[in-house]
Amino acid sequence: MIEETTEKSVPLNRREFLNLAWLASLGFVFVDVAGLTILFAMPRFKEGEFGGVFIVGSSDILPSTDAPPQNYPKVKFWLSNTEEGVKALYKVCTHLGCLYNWNSQEGKFICPCHGSQFQKDGTYIQGPAPRSLDQFVVQAVDAETGEVIAQTPPDGSAVQIPEDREVIIKVDTGAKIIGQRHS
Ligand code: FES
Repeated sequence: MIEETTEKSVPLNRREFLNLAWLASLGFVFVDVAGLTILFAMPRFKEGEFGGVFIVGSSDILPSTDAPPQNYPKVKFWLSNTEEGVKALYKVCTHLGCLYNWNSQEGKFICPCHGSQFQKDGTYIQGPAPRSLDQFVVQAVDAETGEVIAQTPPDGSAVQIPEDREVIIKVDTGAKIIGQRHS
């Protein structure tokens, strides 16, 4: 005679149900936290777009010290080369955020909105702007090793580009240095 065994499902009691619910919610929290961690660990901006690092190129494409600054509209800066060195000036006026322009006749930046003026290196000249132009960190990296040889210091001084070796110029549009306030 074959004995039949039938398994009956036993309903969960209250404690078991609460334990299961707690474990399930813990799982959801874990998945959420893991997802957010991965999201924050990923770079927010791709290389070459505004907010990330832009590769200008080798030092021989820098404007000469007596040439007008070079306009990089997609990444929102003017690359300005003076006797003191190179700066990447953020294109937004420090008064109320208009886009200022280079005026070749007068040899300075002039904002069309309220007339603020700035020297080629971004230093405030006159107008309602409360400070000199903001700028981004410029880096000169060794073309072979990728080693950073020179970069904009925290005080925003211009960077001298070494001439004794081949370098690549990069601008980090995610690293802004605020212009100095004038009295
Ligand atoms: S926004 Fe440039 S002077 Fe006002």
